[in-house]
Amino acid sequence: MEKKINVGFNPTFREFNRTTKRYRAARGSAGSGKSVNVAQDFILKLGDMKYKGANLVVIRKIGESNKDSTFAELTGVIYRLYGEYASMYWDIKTSPFTITSKVTGNSIIFRGMKDQSQREKVKSITFPTGKLTWVWVEEATELAEEDIDILDDRLRGILDNDNLYYQMTFTFNPVSATHWIKGKYFDYKDSEIFTHHSTYKDNRFIDDGYYDRMERRRVQDPEGYRVYGLGEWGELGGLILNNIEMIDFEGIEFRNFDNRGYGADWGYNHATAILPIAEKDNCLYIFDELYEYEKDTDEIINIANQKGYDKRLRYICDSAEPDRIKMFQKAGFNATGVKKFAGSVNAQIDRLKTYDKIYVSPRCTNTFKEAQQWKWKKDKDGNYIDTPVDYFDDSMAALRYATDLFDGGNQVRFINKRLLF
Ligand SMILES: Nc1ncnc2c1ncn2[C@@H]1O[C@H](COP(=O)(O)OP(=O)(O)O)[C@@H](O)[C@H]1O
Ligand SMILES: [Mg+2]
Repeated sequence: MEKKINVGFNPTFREFNRTTKRYRAARGSAGSGKSVNVAQDFILKLGDMKYKGANLVVIRKIGESNKDSTFAELTGVIYRLYGEYASMYWDIKTSPFTITSKVTGNSIIFRGMKDQSQREKVKSITFPTGKLTWVWVEEATELAEEDIDILDDRLRGILDNDNLYYQMTFTFNPVSATHWIKGKYFDYKDSEIFTHHSTYKDNRFIDDGYYDRMERRRVQDPEGYRVYGLGEWGELGGLILNNIEMIDFEGIEFRNFDNRGYGADWGYNHATAILPIAEKDNCLYIFDELYEYEKDTDEIINIANQKGYDKRLRYICDSAEPDRIKMFQKAGFNATGVKKFAGSVNAQIDRLKTYDKIYVSPRCTNTFKEAQQWKWKKDKDGNYIDTPVDYFDDSMAALRYATDLFDGGNQVRFINKRLLF
């Protein structure tokens, strides 16, 4: 059979894909092509008889996140590469998520490392054929150093195929210069470590809209651009929300909460963000996100309908665009504009900070990313001031507006408190 190959590589990763060193770590800006590259690299290798006996475990801190990220990327590569013949060559299962090459017998499995029981499970991974040879830790900065050591320990023993080698692959956006991953792999020189740095400019497949957004960020949020645009190590300070956490939402359902509704922020060049949010026991839960660039209101309404968002619940919306609220109301949504007044942004932020936790479902990748980057501005002397950097904060705006759903008079109290100090 003649196969048409529709996968292309970004040249920046050539050496990265060839190295057989025990550790290969790719840090880079968002959109630099790291994840797609690693997915392509593994599919090609695992389907190749040269590497018979190899198996891969893909790790994310919250195992559930694999579904929409690593699993989607790996299967995407298979469909692009094999087209209609995909199922002849690969067996793709979803419960549990497993990908097996029908040619080599090599497999891919997916795991999380969020707690002790999951760490224990990782210690007993086995495969039908061959051994665990490769580990891919996606968003590796989410994990603790001990988690990596547990995985590292699993890669040992004699391999009977001379082409095989043990390898840990890390992909991540560098968040903080004090992160353990920098000390362990980037500052420490070792012949078994291969490090790589890439930016969105190295990715020849990136779309123009993305390029434009990054360019805007360069101007509006230079510090964020350094980290998320150039993939440089950042600093930890100035984060607005320290109580936000991604957890597994299994068994936690939106409809089972009494206090719930939606926050909505409109955008076009910026994203439109709509979040279903519930409150209970001084915690917030963010269940899902509608997060779309360059969509008009009709399109947004369609997506909200497809997602099954509940029209009868309250939608607290950005009040800067009353026409869009009207269209939402006409489509049957219980939408109102958020009250804006001097100090309302800080009052909402204060409210968000009083929650013990703001839990985010793994489905809300953009919301979680925004929260991890949402910072206070600095003045010219480098001191943080009381104003958020207004960039890449669309979900954060929706989250702020949603606090009105639960305010129960609290808002006034918080403003007064601010005035007192
Ligand atoms: N080799 C590739 N072939 C086709 N598209 C790619 C390739 N690499 C990256 N892309 C495109 O660029 C986007 C960003 O790449 P991704 O790997 O997700 O970046 P990163 O993981 O560095 O944030 C992808 O969603 C995809 O559209
Ligand atoms: Mg990625």
